[in-house]
Amino acid sequence: MTDKFIAIEGITKRFPAPGGGATTVFEGLWLTMARGEFTCIIGHSGCGKTTVLNILAGLDAPSEGTVIVDNQSIEGPSLDRAVIFQSHALLPWRTVMGNVAYAVASKWRRSPQREVQAQAQKFIDLVGLTGAEGKRPAELSGGMKQRVGIARALSIEPKIMLMDEPFSALDALTRGTLQDEVRRICLETGQTAFMITHDVDEAIYLADRVVLMTNGPNAVLAEIVENPLPKERLRNEVHRHPLYYGVRNHIIDFLVSRSKNFAEEIKESGYDRRQVPVVRPGAPLPAVAASASSSSSLPGSTRPSVAAAPPVAPLDASAGRA
Ligand SMILES: Nc1ncnc2c1ncn2[C@@H]1O[C@H](COP(=O)(O)OP(=O)(O)O)[C@@H](O)[C@H]1O
Ligand SMILES: [Mg+2]
Repeated sequence: MTDKFIAIEGITKRFPAPGGGATTVFEGLWLTMARGEFTCIIGHSGCGKTTVLNILAGLDAPSEGTVIVDNQSIEGPSLDRAVIFQSHALLPWRTVMGNVAYAVASKWRRSPQREVQAQAQKFIDLVGLTGAEGKRPAELSGGMKQRVGIARALSIEPKIMLMDEPFSALDALTRGTLQDEVRRICLETGQTAFMITHDVDEAIYLADRVVLMTNGPNAVLAEIVENPLPKERLRNEVHRHPLYYGVRNHIIDFLVSRSKNFAEEIKESGYDRRQVPVVRPGAPLPAVAASASSSSSLPGSTRPSVAAAPPVAPLDASAGRA
């Protein structure tokens, strides 16, 4: 049985078009996410990823459709859903402790200050900012500010962590360190996470599943790529895994051509937006797929498995940027 902790049910977003009428940014998106799962979404700029994330956060509403989290439909923002933005969005007049404690106090309004501070301290320590509690945002580096954003998001112990390109403004070293931190914390705490990224390598390192979104207008979810790499993976070693380039090339091929031509591609196929095809590029097909029970074959796994290819591109994140 699939655990539908989060269910996106047929959401469409329209905005008024400049010359009258409406532009449909995306249409009829259906997706479920399980508890504790890390989902990344990849698609070109403007296809509507941030709008989807804002709808999940309750900061925006769909024109049609609904989103259900833990059996309740989203009606507005909630402290059950924490957002980490691309820019840190910290309160400049508050210290590191002040920023995190403010979030904690808004969730547990009746807690004594001592408990609020202890909870804030726990997450400041977790993101490696011990000793910087008294600093204000202006005194922190970009990476440290983003760490405060992560501590603030986690400190309210959200049901879901929503991240909109959280590391894209950081230098490569800091980005790598923070990816490691977020991955460790999510694994340790069983955190459910939904993250937008432009960086294919980041998605393969972090995600259990990578959702591919076509270009807008009228964007749709084209495929769900199940990450074939083992859950225990190290950032500096993932690219050596035999399945790594298969999955990486599959995602890059999507961004380069299929994201534009998807409407053509599905003309003859039985694409159903309610059952977005699931693929495992590069993964060996089950040896006895034909005789195995139907539960062992993934829907949509009819696309040929992509063989592991030699390293054709440098592991520069920009190579995989949309
Ligand atoms: N408030 C708005 N009014 C009109 N159009 C908007 C509004 N917000 C976003 N859009 C349009 O919706 C599309 C998707 O935006 P966005 O979700 O930010 O895309 P992404 O995050 O994938 O780059 C873009 O074309 C953008 O111009
Ligand atoms: Mg965006």
